[in-house]
Amino acid sequence: MSRVLSGIQPSGDIHLGNYLGALRAWVDNQRDHEAFYCIVDLHALSGGFDPSMLAQRTVEAARSLLAIGLDPELCTLFAQSHVGEHPRLAWLLECTATMGELRRMTQFKDKGGESESVRVGLFTYPVLQAADILLYDAEQVPVGEDQRQHLELTRNLAHRFNHRYGETFVVPEPVVPTLAARVMDLQEPTRKMSKSSSSALGTISVLDPPEEIERKIRKAVTDTEASVRYDPAAKPGVSNLLELLGSATGADPATLAGQYSRYGDLKRDVAEALAEMLRPVRERHSDLAKDPELVMRVLASGAARARAVAGPVLGRAMSAVGLLPAP
Ligand code: TYM
Repeated sequence: MSRVLSGIQPSGDIHLGNYLGALRAWVDNQRDHEAFYCIVDLHALSGGFDPSMLAQRTVEAARSLLAIGLDPELCTLFAQSHVGEHPRLAWLLECTATMGELRRMTQFKDKGGESESVRVGLFTYPVLQAADILLYDAEQVPVGEDQRQHLELTRNLAHRFNHRYGETFVVPEPVVPTLAARVMDLQEPTRKMSKSSSSALGTISVLDPPEEIERKIRKAVTDTEASVRYDPAAKPGVSNLLELLGSATGADPATLAGQYSRYGDLKRDVAEALAEMLRPVRERHSDLAKDPELVMRVLASGAARARAVAGPVLGRAMSAVGLLPAP
């Protein structure tokens, strides 16, 4: 069975972009791959965070991932900070990466890379991400479109390390869905849906109840043309809705467009399809709340399984660069 690894930051509610862009593939992959999924709490330290909330957010992210359909019998779910190999390999990779290539990362630039007071951790963020992936010999990494550049960097670092120090790492491939790879903000459809959206109406959480989904979709920004066409450049709002409907129902967005003449009808069907898709997630989430210890047990056994794989790979990398083996 081939390996997959992916990660998510524990920074607030999991939203529809996370779900359609990546997490649905995580659930599918656990059946026919050896799957490692990581809640990247160390990455969360690179932005503004509240220390009193961090642990709780990690637990909450794990609960939501189980609610989405991750099965701890089929996959390994763990917190990044519980596996000390991640920051240790990140250092070896920081000594492989260059300032120039990290400066080119668009996420770093978007998050204030020009400023003198930007945290060094935000700059080296993609190197820690590369360590997350390379530690598990992952062949595939299911992610949304916004992670492509980080994956390209991971591949470059793996190639460079292998070339310089001898074959050590598997070079991974990103796996990006054909639909909903970049779900857009409902209020600002030229920006991606994100946890830091400026409007609460812009983002749908996977735990939103049907009335909330209906309200947000009804208020979603479209345009004044009043014709339903799939054209992401000219009609970002309507195309985003068509893509959501296509992704929720398995239909092609351009074909769906032909079935609607009014925005109101399209919005009604999008809201219904999303509410239906997310209903089991919300139900499982409230069931899981009845057993608060379960999540901790899952994370403990996940960390042990992750360490068993990551330890030897880190050992391989340390020996490749010529470090003295620990006595
Ligand atoms: P994060 O936490 O921002 O997002 C988790 C996953 O959701 C995808 N995603 C989206 N997909 C479609 N449309 C959107 N609007 C949207 N917003 C987010 C992301 O592409 C991602 O797959 N750097 C990563 C976390 C990470 C990681 C890793 C990922 C750390 N180590 C190793 C893969 C492998 C991040 O911040 O994702």
